[in-house]
Amino acid sequence: MPATVTRKTLMDMKKDGKKIVASTAYDYPFARIADESGIHMLLVGDSLGMAVQGEANTLGVTMDQMIYHTRIVAKGAGTAMVIGDMPFMSYQVSMPEALTNAGRFLKESGASAIKLEGGAAVSETIRAMAEAGIPVMAHIGLTPQSVHQLGGYRVQRDRSRLIADADKVEAAGAFAVVLEGIPAEIAEEITGSLNIPTIGIGAGSACDGQILVLHDMLGISAGHVPKFVKKYAELRQNAMEGLRTYIDEVQNGIFPDKNHSY
Ligand code: KIV
Repeated sequence: MPATVTRKTLMDMKKDGKKIVASTAYDYPFARIADESGIHMLLVGDSLGMAVQGEANTLGVTMDQMIYHTRIVAKGAGTAMVIGDMPFMSYQVSMPEALTNAGRFLKESGASAIKLEGGAAVSETIRAMAEAGIPVMAHIGLTPQSVHQLGGYRVQRDRSRLIADADKVEAAGAFAVVLEGIPAEIAEEITGSLNIPTIGIGAGSACDGQILVLHDMLGISAGHVPKFVKKYAELRQNAMEGLRTYIDEVQNGIFPDKNHSY
């Protein structure tokens, strides 16, 4: 049986040039599927807001919702590292509140790490969490919780700011950093300069790993998906076909037949 993925596994993968592959997960059945497929990291992202709750953005997601979803993902995960995403305003108000909320993920949900958004501005929070024994994955570039501040979901191109943010989160003790929505050449430069792994989403191929929102990459999400998403399955279409066939068979007396009756 493969060993559980830890921060050391991820560091070793970076050193060995082996790509880290991550996806989001929000519930038990998909966590099991992703884990059995060999995915290394399962992020219970606050993309829950859009992917599962049907909201327009991530801002309304609460700590209690994140704990609930992380707990059911952790049940389905075998060897993948499970990371809980700190929702909007769960770590920005005060350091004690940030530490309490991050601690809840480890104590109540079975996650072995947390993720939060921001660079230099949250580096002291990352430091305090790391010193308290809570592994932190940082997230810089296009940070969706700041959608209103950024004026929309825009590619972030301020090279010196991105480099400074990456350096700060590493120095503060983050074990990995998500690079979202930044030009591939800046992501490559950051990846080459950091000791910790970079996990890209819309940040080109040079990152140490990649992450995608599960519902986007498996074709579950309806409507628009960002340019960086590649669809590896069409589950929405498959589900629709299955349900339409079921309706048709019930209405035409085909189901249930003898094989599905007592
Ligand atoms: O919330 C989320 O799913 C994320 C990833 C896409 C990085 O932050």
